[in-house]
Amino acid sequence: MQFISTPGSSLRGEMTLPGDKSLSHRAALFAALADGDSCIDNFLVSGVTMPLLSAMTALGVAWQLEGNTLTVQGRGISAWRAPQQPIDCGNSATTLRLLAGAIAAAGIRATLTGSAGLRRRPMGRITQPLRRMGVEVTADPGELAPLHFAARAAGQSLTPPDETLEAASAQVKSCLLLAALAAPGQAVLRESGPSRDHTERMLGAAGFSVSSTQLTSASGQTIYETRLLVPTHATLPALHGQLPGDISAAAFLLVAGLIVPGSAVTVRGVGLNPTRTGLLDVLTRMGAQISVHPLPDGMGEPWGDVTVRASRLHGVEVGGEEVVRMIDEFPIFGVAAALAQGETCVRDAAELRLKESDRIAALCAELRTLGVEVEEAPDGFRVMGGKVCGGTVESHGDHRLAMALAVLGLAGQGVVQVNGAEMMNESFPEFASSLQSLGANLRIANE
Ligand code: S3P
Repeated sequence: MQFISTPGSSLRGEMTLPGDKSLSHRAALFAALADGDSCIDNFLVSGVTMPLLSAMTALGVAWQLEGNTLTVQGRGISAWRAPQQPIDCGNSATTLRLLAGAIAAAGIRATLTGSAGLRRRPMGRITQPLRRMGVEVTADPGELAPLHFAARAAGQSLTPPDETLEAASAQVKSCLLLAALAAPGQAVLRESGPSRDHTERMLGAAGFSVSSTQLTSASGQTIYETRLLVPTHATLPALHGQLPGDISAAAFLLVAGLIVPGSAVTVRGVGLNPTRTGLLDVLTRMGAQISVHPLPDGMGEPWGDVTVRASRLHGVEVGGEEVVRMIDEFPIFGVAAALAQGETCVRDAAELRLKESDRIAALCAELRTLGVEVEEAPDGFRVMGGKVCGGTVESHGDHRLAMALAVLGLAGQGVVQVNGAEMMNESFPEFASSLQSLGANLRIANE
């Protein structure tokens, strides 16, 4: 499938969005680990969340989906059963890494695998610390999936993790916090940046003692430290509530509203956890007109309505902790930078090379195809904004790159065709229909 984006139509209107991807994963998993019946509204039904629900079935956890409402009959982690077949996590590293932590805690025999793309992504960042906790897990050469977990003897607990993560990563941190549910005592995890803290918030809401602190190392660097105290018999209560809309999906509509002349767009009920709102801060620095109307917290997460108006953006520098707070937003940020006046420079973002695609190389290549002057660096990129032509570009099998390039075509100087439009189903199946309902001239064609 192909997106065909034509510039010229302004975007106007408001909308609510499907539930946050990270929160949907965590809510389903916490409900599967809980003892009791959970009901989660505004669950994200998409390519990256369905593998987790299928995995729950394979683990003996019953659930039902009616529209976007997920109900789960959790019977506690001790009720999890060893799956008969390898669990296929599709393209979803979040499913694989979070499930790895939960399976380690359950102590059951299981194999976790996924798409060819997922099997290329680094897993040593979870397997090595899990082994130090006493988990028996093997991987393919190079510490790649499939991961094979051996069963653990009944009553045998794990050692609490005390780790400095090689990169700030909520997936790794969450994996280890979930594994720590079988490791009574104090878990301590240190990161170089403020990765999203949804797992900690859910553990806190479940009654665990969990803290996040900023410390300064001897060399003057800021360390983000998470501590979790796990009692001898840890149990999780059932969950009830509505998930906020996904700020990472909203980002496409918000940037579209900023770069397409004459636009005004509001997204309602979107998650505003400060570990996720880096893009809003950076866009504001670029001159974007953004107003935020906070709502009372839902399910332990801040959320609110966000309105943007078409704005003249200018280039900006991005680095340090801000990168972590907008780690999924670089494809659409690159689009904003391509249309901003002047130079934008991103550094400290080498993690982007390890996402669904090498997002530095892929973004730079596709922007160049559309006539944008870009320069790649090992840990980021430089964009000279202002001029964007039409052309045909590739998704590189990356949902966020496909959607970002489709947005760029709404505001450049020619029609943009993006191959791989079906990738939107991974995280934002309503992407095209949302933009169309705001008035965008975006079509989907079969290649
Ligand atoms: C996620 C964490 C991020 C992000 C991913 C979802 C999560 O990955 O890129 O889309 O839900 O924990 P890292 O934490 O590995 O950077």
